[in-house]
Amino acid sequence: MNTELTASALPGQPFVAYQGSHLMVEGVRLADLAREHGTPLFVYSKAAMLTALAAYQRGFAGRKAQICYAMKANSSLAVLQVFADAGCGFDIVSGGELARVLAAGGDPAKVIFSGVGKTRAEMKQALQVGIGCFNVESDAELDVLSDVAVGLGKRAQVSLRVNPNVDPKTHPYISTGLKGNKFGIAHESAVQVYQHAASLPGLQVVGIDCHIGSQITEMTPYLDAMDRVLDLVAAVEAAGVPIHHIDFGGGLGINYNGDTPPEADALWGQLLAKLDARGYGQRQLMIEPGRSLVGNAGVCLTEVMYLKPGEQKNFCIVDAAMNDLPRPAMYQAFHSIVPVAPRSGNAVAYDVVGPVCESGDWIGRDRQLVVQSGDLLAVLSAGAYCMSMASNYNTRGRAAEVLVDGSQAHLIRQRESAFDTFALEQLVG
Ligand code: LLP
Repeated sequence: MNTELTASALPGQPFVAYQGSHLMVEGVRLADLAREHGTPLFVYSKAAMLTALAAYQRGFAGRKAQICYAMKANSSLAVLQVFADAGCGFDIVSGGELARVLAAGGDPAKVIFSGVGKTRAEMKQALQVGIGCFNVESDAELDVLSDVAVGLGKRAQVSLRVNPNVDPKTHPYISTGLKGNKFGIAHESAVQVYQHAASLPGLQVVGIDCHIGSQITEMTPYLDAMDRVLDLVAAVEAAGVPIHHIDFGGGLGINYNGDTPPEADALWGQLLAKLDARGYGQRQLMIEPGRSLVGNAGVCLTEVMYLKPGEQKNFCIVDAAMNDLPRPAMYQAFHSIVPVAPRSGNAVAYDVVGPVCESGDWIGRDRQLVVQSGDLLAVLSAGAYCMSMASNYNTRGRAAEVLVDGSQAHLIRQRESAFDTFALEQLVG
């Protein structure tokens, strides 16, 4: 029996809850949304996003701070609109993301442009619309950016991404602040690279930034990284290059499976105490959170198509797949899977898998479920790095998306048709 599921909010997701036997997002029944829009379907709670943002805003109360939502986590236009309307800037990593910010009504002056491989065309596009800052990752990129800016008669504001060489204790694919990663400028060469940046005609040095990884659930790596970054601020300023802002990246984790990351305001309480103690508390601060703003604001609804009992395993074949929810296949990530309308009966262990022709196409392994074909399941914590990483593999159209606001449900992305997936292709001759 799943009766313990029938009365309460789900762990980590205060806006996803059972009311009686109905799983709801805010005031909307998920079964109704699936009936209206089909499955797989992503459903997001606006209140959950704003509540997650409020924890950061509380943490920064009384400080000079700009929150730049790392939109790679979920770049759907209506999601960007929620954060733009709430005063956020955006951390972007491509010209495509910049175009999305503008289409969603975001302020280009609050945009920071991260990433190791910006093209000249992207730099030009960003300078023309007047973004706030480029987070630069190498000497070579500094030269190219200066050249592009001079060509436009502009000066690009730059921050250097330094690599604090701190272990964030997360999955290797999503740790970025270690020496062996492709990201950032090595601690040892930072002063020299800053001096190079300050000497270039098309650049104005404004900041320092770091980002040590993603899905970080402990405070210590952050506190260690802050110490390393502040050591560099002192060294760079002693070498004659003033640093106006400190951008501390993103990375705060969420509760997927009993994870216990600190709340954003608690984390920043500690980080600000350190900044104050070292005399940097009044600097302009920036952060780039992604997952922690949207991850637990979203679920993915999927329908059980077939149950396939086996000698070694039972499979529950659903209509969502690795193209919709790539995180399990890519990072062996865990997402809770719960019934939209719990039924009674004896739970059976299933591997929940999609229709894609790969053994890696699984969504959850060994899950205890009471299900029949035709039932709806909700894959939880699906607001971050799911739709934004979705693909058309197996010529599967990408899912539709709904944003819930109280008792209102807004369709924010239509389901892609097969035709949409090949609309840009043509036959030869
Ligand atoms: N800033 C920079 C420079 C980043 O590279 C990232 C994420 C963020 C901010 C936002 O990090 P967040 O707050 O979301 O942890 N696809 C992976 C996560 C990749 C993260 C890449 N960088 C996943 O599904 O777990």
